[in-house]
Amino acid sequence: MPSVQTMAQARRVALTLCVVLLVLSVAGRGAEAASYNVGNSAGWDLSADFPSWLNGKTFYVGDDLVFQYSRYHTLAEVDEAGFKNCSAADALLSRSDGNTTVQLTAPGDRYFVCGNKLHCLGGMRLQVLVTEPPAPAGAPAAAAPQGNPGAAAGPGTDGDGDAGVPRLFFGGSHRAAVGPLLLSTWLCAFIAVLV
Ligand SMILES: *[C@@H]1O[C@H](CO)[C@@H](O)[C@H](O)[C@H]1NC(C)=O
Ligand SMILES: *[C@@H]1O[C@H](CO)[C@@H](O)[C@H](O)[C@H]1NC(C)=O
Repeated sequence: MPSVQTMAQARRVALTLCVVLLVLSVAGRGAEAASYNVGNSAGWDLSADFPSWLNGKTFYVGDDLVFQYSRYHTLAEVDEAGFKNCSAADALLSRSDGNTTVQLTAPGDRYFVCGNKLHCLGGMRLQVLVTEPPAPAGAPAAAAPQGNPGAAAGPGTDGDGDAGVPRLFFGGSHRAAVGPLLLSTWLCAFIAVLV
């Protein structure tokens, strides 16, 4: 039989975990914009590996790209053709200040090259796909099935009643925002019942 002290310690650990999870999930919902330092420590430079840098990143409307570069380089935003042929001739934006922040204001592809064609051919080009952020509208959607226990009482009544459940758990963009909060809320409720 576990000692009273061990039980108290276990409860403390569980409650701490629950609070940390709640804080993290609330913070995660609030983190709507991110700022990316392009190329990490290498910056906007020939030595950076931009395909690797892009790996696993998802860019949302509202995020920022920060380009930091030496006086040997410039930053040009171009169209798809300019990206493919490394031409900054028709640049939409040209900067040479060494520290340029670009706001991702709309969904779609954005293309960046170094104004020096040889540097672009050497790897200084970046294509970024910007997507709409996960809808915070997921929060009200989560409240509806929870506050409607009557739906669970009638498994025979398919139709509209079930539509909310798949949408809640498998609904693409909603899932990311709602999942952690739901999970930590359930965990905290479970622990509260035990204590
Ligand atoms: C390269 O792209 C630029 C920018 O869109 C365009 O003006 C130019 O005609 C293209 N050059 C070639 C050879 O495709
Ligand atoms: C780059 O510019 C941003 C503001 O746009 C500033 O906060 C940051 O300190 C600058 N970084 C460097 C290295 O100059």
